[in-house]
Amino acid sequence: MPATIVVGTQWGDEGKGKLTDLIAKEMSLVVRYQGGHNAGHTIVVDGESFALQLLPSGVLYDHIVPVIGNGVVVDPVVLLAEIDSLEARGIDCSRLAVSGNAHLIFPYHQELDRLIERHLGKNKLGTTKRGIGPTYADKASRVGIRVQDLLDEKILREKLRAVLGEKNLILAKVYNRLGFDPDEMADRYLSEVAPRIAPYVSDTVSLVHEALEAGRNVLFEGAQATFLDLDHGTYPFVTSSNPIAGGACVGAGVGPRHIDRIVGIAKAYVTRVGSGPMPTELFDEVGDLLVDRGHEYGVNTKRRRRPGWFDAVMLRHAVRLNSLSELAITKLDILDVFPTVKVCVAYDINGTRHTHLPYHQSDLHAAVPVYEELPGWETDLSGARERGDLPAAARTYLEFLEEQVGVPITFVGTGPGRDQYVRRADAA
Ligand code: GDP
Ligand code: IMO
Ligand code: MG
Repeated sequence: MPATIVVGTQWGDEGKGKLTDLIAKEMSLVVRYQGGHNAGHTIVVDGESFALQLLPSGVLYDHIVPVIGNGVVVDPVVLLAEIDSLEARGIDCSRLAVSGNAHLIFPYHQELDRLIERHLGKNKLGTTKRGIGPTYADKASRVGIRVQDLLDEKILREKLRAVLGEKNLILAKVYNRLGFDPDEMADRYLSEVAPRIAPYVSDTVSLVHEALEAGRNVLFEGAQATFLDLDHGTYPFVTSSNPIAGGACVGAGVGPRHIDRIVGIAKAYVTRVGSGPMPTELFDEVGDLLVDRGHEYGVNTKRRRRPGWFDAVMLRHAVRLNSLSELAITKLDILDVFPTVKVCVAYDINGTRHTHLPYHQSDLHAAVPVYEELPGWETDLSGARERGDLPAAARTYLEFLEEQVGVPITFVGTGPGRDQYVRRADAA
């Protein structure tokens, strides 16, 4: 299985970091292909927690080359701080390869992200305010600045002058804000950032292809998730990249025929941070219990995540969009205390039953979940490691999910620790 993709199937925070770390053991390269430091991927090793934003989750293994692909947006100041903090904890990051074609997030992108959100008022998206949207917008408008530009003083100065010529006008005339001095910014990035980033800058497309040609295993680690996808998510309440599996081809420079295995990650329930539709959202004490037991607060932004029951309608769509070959269900242990658990199997939209996601968002806003209620297991699963450790009701729940979404569940998460999982079946 040389090329594998790990992809979030809900609205993020499904446990992609933990699963990537788990699967990474057998890999040579772990590649981030989109997003930026809006991601927060947690890995817990021997009780010690690592919250990664930009570095791929394979970085904790000495044998892995962590790769930041061309599709990622990189705040180089954040990247250096993350490298420093990991190195201070004894993790060697020297193998890191950063694509010279990845786009850079600058302070003006973050400022614009904050201002645009404020301007939207009650219609705000609830972004992470990391400058992700404005950076991808500049990339599409062809005024972006790339990692390789840090290595060429003349180009960096020219590009900053050109882009800030326009951004400063917008900041002043639309938002009544002070602008940024392009030469000051160039001086700072050239002296403090570029020399430290330079050793990591690589041709990551060749790196990935050489590994694949040599028969080595490559893992593509998705950030965000299917329903935050710019094209297929709940627009406009989405991120500005393509987290779906197809995004790995674009964001890392591989053709679809290279991909052998696509692992979807789903929580045993759902959460979402920020605004946007969420048909199974719970506003009662059941939701509070899910948030409480699941510690459902953002890794970086600390925002409370909105809780809801598992939504099989959305998952069926995620199976289609990503060509999932298997599914990993995480956080099953969070459901341990419930006497019964619910799964949304269809939506009732204006009196009609829908088992597939409606294509138009206005229909999704009107969706009323149709639930099946299954018996809970009321057993502590945190120690479960073998298939036989799962109680009958938990097994029935998993089999029900498999039947609903049509792909095998190969991993089940039973706690945050690296060793807290049950491998339910061999990979397809
Ligand atoms: P990601 O963004 O998809 O990598 O997920 P996050 O790291 O943002 O959020 C997932 C949270 O759940 C983290 O705190 C993980 O340590 C934790 N986690 C992952 N898998 C499990 C699991 O199976 N059980 C429990 N209880 N926690 C888990
Ligand atoms: P990981 O990789 C959950 C959400 C934000 C907001 C929307 C747009 O940890 O799963 P952005 O800053 O990207 O422009 O915000 O997307 N969002 C996430 N939600 N997990 C994430 O990453 C997210 N990254 C962005 O909350 O609703
Ligand atoms: Mg996260």
